[in-house]
Amino acid sequence: MSENKSRFNSRFAAIMAMAGSAVGLGNIWLFPYMVGEHGGAAFIIVYIAFCILVSLPIFIAESTAGRVSRKEGYSIMNKVAPVTILASFIILSFYSVVGGWSFDYLIRSFAGGFSGKDIAEAKEVFAGMNGSVVENVSCMLVFLGMTAMIVVAGVDKGIGRFSKISIPVLFIMVVLIAIESLRLPGSGKGIEYLIRPDWSKLDGPAIAAALGQSFFSLSLGVGSIYTYASYMREEDSVLRAGGWTAFFDTAFALLAGLAIMPAVFAAGIEPGAGPSLVFETLPVIFSRMGVVLPVIFFLAILIAALSSSISLLEVVVSWLVHSRGMRRRYAVLLVFFSAAFLGSACAVAPKVFAACDFLSSNVFMMIGALLFALITGWILPREEVMRHVRYRFAYALIRYAAPVMIVAIAVTNLL
Ligand code: TRP
Repeated sequence: MSENKSRFNSRFAAIMAMAGSAVGLGNIWLFPYMVGEHGGAAFIIVYIAFCILVSLPIFIAESTAGRVSRKEGYSIMNKVAPVTILASFIILSFYSVVGGWSFDYLIRSFAGGFSGKDIAEAKEVFAGMNGSVVENVSCMLVFLGMTAMIVVAGVDKGIGRFSKISIPVLFIMVVLIAIESLRLPGSGKGIEYLIRPDWSKLDGPAIAAALGQSFFSLSLGVGSIYTYASYMREEDSVLRAGGWTAFFDTAFALLAGLAIMPAVFAAGIEPGAGPSLVFETLPVIFSRMGVVLPVIFFLAILIAALSSSISLLEVVVSWLVHSRGMRRRYAVLLVFFSAAFLGSACAVAPKVFAACDFLSSNVFMMIGALLFALITGWILPREEVMRHVRYRFAYALIRYAAPVMIVAIAVTNLL
């Protein structure tokens, strides 16, 4: 096994890379809708509490495992490797299909493809794209190719540099969209939808959704955080990285809500979630607000997706390089072709796509997160772990609260 000497050359690069992994489609197409449907500010408060008390400790457990794994004699990765590598590979494959759609839509909005269209016509555009094997597969390949190009350039020169530039730009873009959206007459209803606390809507399913979402949104359980943490410099703290990542991830989700919902309500349209929101409703609404806005929006989606997909590809590449002694270039090539294969299957067969999505988020991510919590909480020597975790309270959360909560979400999601 070759020693892992790859490093992010600054704390900023490491934190931006982790934030990039966390900030993704989940923040844009799931969170705002979830907030609105589950009680506004009431949901936001519960979400933040879960982030701090459950997801952040799991983040710290996963990143501590990554840091400790660098030391001789702690080959923990060998125990978790099969689950996390399979999981990140599967997620990479279907994520690339959606990444491909965002590339497709970026090009379309450059060409002004949505101006003057109504929602019914936008639905036809989406169905047409989805139905075209050539378009679907080639856009997926372009997206996967961009991911591979960033990763092949290396940990600091590729992933670190891309994240340091693109994540701040991404924040500026959503702020711009939010400002435009809030200036529309009637946008107040969107804010009301997002904020007005309604404690009666905070039922069991809402609470389970908050927990599951905070977990998914921080990219836990598939080794992305583990791998990135293994690249942090000795002097940089995982506690701090975790705190900042959780903060940026939540801030971005809230900003995305302010960019989307005011515009949706100002247009008098019912909000939705998922692909229909991003690829049917929003292109139409943003096109009514000018030619530039849709371009900024799809560029933002593309960057958010890319900064997540590089963290997925890197899990598999890092393992091939550090445990299998493969050269980085060949490792990237090998994963590119394998993911292109499964990605094509996902692009042409919705059932394969759905199965990959279901398996990874409900099964593999949960098992991976549970393993990281148990390894850091119970298997690694306490002194070694406490050097990174520092607070006894955090250690206790990792040992007891995290495993119980992971099992609770897994059971709720599968029921
Ligand atoms: N956090 C990403 C989002 O919000 C999705 C995601 C889940 C992810 N698990 C991941 C991204 C693992 C990269 C790695 O969209």
